[in-house]
Amino acid sequence: MWGKDYDKNLVQPWRNFMPVELLIAMLRDPASTGALLPSSRALARAMANAATGADLIVELGAGTGAVTRALLHAQPHVPLIAVELQPPLAQRLKACCPTADVRQAAAKEVVDALIDAQGKVVLISSLPFRSLPRRVASETATCLCRFLERNPARKLVQFTYQPRAPFGAPPGLQWQRTSVVWRNTPPAGIWELQAVS
Ligand SMILES: C[S@@+](CC[C@H](N)C(=O)[O-])C[C@H]1O[C@@H](n2cnc3c(N)ncnc32)[C@H](O)[C@@H]1O
Repeated sequence: MWGKDYDKNLVQPWRNFMPVELLIAMLRDPASTGALLPSSRALARAMANAATGADLIVELGAGTGAVTRALLHAQPHVPLIAVELQPPLAQRLKACCPTADVRQAAAKEVVDALIDAQGKVVLISSLPFRSLPRRVASETATCLCRFLERNPARKLVQFTYQPRAPFGAPPGLQWQRTSVVWRNTPPAGIWELQAVS
């Protein structure tokens, strides 16, 4: 299931710690990239475990694939759509995770298109809401909230480095911080957003 980039990562283990594609993405567009290092294994595992029970997983801002790989490992029988905006990172994802449905697109586009999806859809997001351009952050947050309001079985799982909820939610939805992952640089809080039933 691993592509040629996975072999490269075994021969050059530093590529896992600091993938060149992430460094270039950070230099080109720091606001959208949001991080210089990939998510740690501990954070990726915690995000992947939060998707337990899903009928469909949609990963937003899949980046270098740290969380994608953990999702494929933890939830091998659940269909996974991995969304990444930046073409070089999306290419890398296609190579390293050929069993995922990788889409090079904006999160908003993909989530809007899934508004009528059946079953329990879990959104697993690494989107950097705090650094995204204000308009993109606001339009994306509005779209995710609209998606969750349709069905209380759906949820969004989002990590953040800040001590507060990733973004403001309307009254029908509620944030809950479910854990803090200390083995990540920097430590990250995992938050879940769901409709109040
Ligand atoms: C914090 S980084 C990725 C973290 C990822 N878990 C990893 O370990 O590589 C956030 C990613 O979100 C992507 N991104 C930013 N805005 C996006 C959008 N509107 N739609 C989809 N992806 C987006 C960036 O290109 C970046 O790769």
